[in-house]
Amino acid sequence: MRTEEKTFEPEVVAFCCRHCAYSAADLAGGGRMNYPSSIKIIEMPCTGRVNVLEILHALEKGADGVAVAGCLPGTCHYIKGNTLAKQRVDHVMELLKTIGLEEQRARMINISAAMGAQFVTEVTDFVETIKALGPSPLSGETSNTRKESQS
Ligand code: FES
Repeated sequence: MRTEEKTFEPEVVAFCCRHCAYSAADLAGGGRMNYPSSIKIIEMPCTGRVNVLEILHALEKGADGVAVAGCLPGTCHYIKGNTLAKQRVDHVMELLKTIGLEEQRARMINISAAMGAQFVTEVTDFVETIKALGPSPLSGETSNTRKESQS
């Protein structure tokens, strides 16, 4: 029997707009700021390109949480991409509730390219939220099986 403490390390996907959140992540990395390695960043031309099915697909394929990170309100390079993204994330949150999952597994984040430290704060908070929720039932894993499979 193993004596090590088993901790849940969630799989979190972040769809990041290249004009803001992706650049903020880059800034954080360049500044040697630490953020959870469990975040899988996917660069998007704009969060307006992220649709409901992509978010649900990530959750279906085992992500414990999905963030959509776009420009600050009123600063989307495609005018209303981040507004549409927020509506889609809200819709996904409603769908998650409908099927009995925690709505907190989806989150919209708004950030500018200059906000590297804020990016770290936001994604760390999201990962901590997901950790508190535990593994997604859709992942088919428990916290113990996931940890063991990574050992
Ligand atoms: Fe960043 Fe649209 S260009 S969210």
